[in-house]
Amino acid sequence: MLRVKTSVLIPGQMVAKDIETPENMKLLIKGSVLTKYSIDFLLKWKIEEIYIKEELEEIIHNRATTLERLTDSYNKSLITIISFMEGLKVNNHIELEEVSEIVAEIEKFVDIMPSLKVINQLKDTDHYTHQHSINVGIYATFIGRWLGLKGEELKKLTYSALLHDVGKMKIPPEILNKPGLLTPAEYEIMKGHSKEGYNILKNNKGLGEEIIIGALQHHERENGKGYPQGLTGDKIHLFGKVIAIADIYDAMTSNRVYRGRLSPFETAEKLLESSYGELDISITKLFVEKLSDFFISSFVILNNGKRAQIVAKNQNYPTRPLIRLEDGFIDLSREKNLCILDVI
Ligand SMILES: [Fe+2]
Repeated sequence: MLRVKTSVLIPGQMVAKDIETPENMKLLIKGSVLTKYSIDFLLKWKIEEIYIKEELEEIIHNRATTLERLTDSYNKSLITIISFMEGLKVNNHIELEEVSEIVAEIEKFVDIMPSLKVINQLKDTDHYTHQHSINVGIYATFIGRWLGLKGEELKKLTYSALLHDVGKMKIPPEILNKPGLLTPAEYEIMKGHSKEGYNILKNNKGLGEEIIIGALQHHERENGKGYPQGLTGDKIHLFGKVIAIADIYDAMTSNRVYRGRLSPFETAEKLLESSYGELDISITKLFVEKLSDFFISSFVILNNGKRAQIVAKNQNYPTRPLIRLEDGFIDLSREKNLCILDVI
């Protein structure tokens, strides 16, 4: 452990001891990786020195480069998607070159992303629909890979997920961005986005049928209670099933004006509950299983306010792992009144 002046810190270094203000407000916790943003943040709080982990320069550099590449790649995609989705408000034309640029960024992103936590760090509420499209593209691509899809098939899934909500650009902004629950009449209008999206996509030559069908069906549910067609079980295309899971996961783990985000673990539990009747059971189980692997060794906050670290996954209960607290270990599968409120 090294004591270093904040002014000479570099992105990629790892915090070795919790950093607090004189009033005991926690700014960063042990294990956090420094970014340009967090160093500025510490300087703003007039933290003069901190403890960092002693590591090889190469490790620090590689970590910083990966974070920078992910942030660049994400922001580049965001600018592109804002441009073509906003364009849909005035005409129905999709610039396929722009879409394929984002798909290529997502493929890179999925290749180098060390943790799904990164997406949470990049999210903001200002561009919710645009970010949501990219995030669903990323999550669906992960699920596709875990399902064994490759090459062109996987690429088609990424396209379909990225474009799943283009129809929302035809929904009046006062309904789309309403900071509260929709009235039944407004909800009916909102539900029209699947069909609107289908109309836009089918008029753009060059998008294959599977891409269009996946987007059309992302609100269909296994029990037939979804929309727009009320399809059941195997009548729903694989892409529609995958995008439904990615869509719900991203929506629940995002902050909205009218509600705070849920943790990945709370969301995973809700997804498993919904899998009885609404979502494809085997894809949901696969997603939850792989998702929990991403969070091993992460620091978390529990609903009793305590901080802990995830130590190991419980194979039978992936949403309730084994955690380490300052005073010992807890198996969350045996402590049903405890749950993970946040991943730090
Ligand atoms: Fe949607």
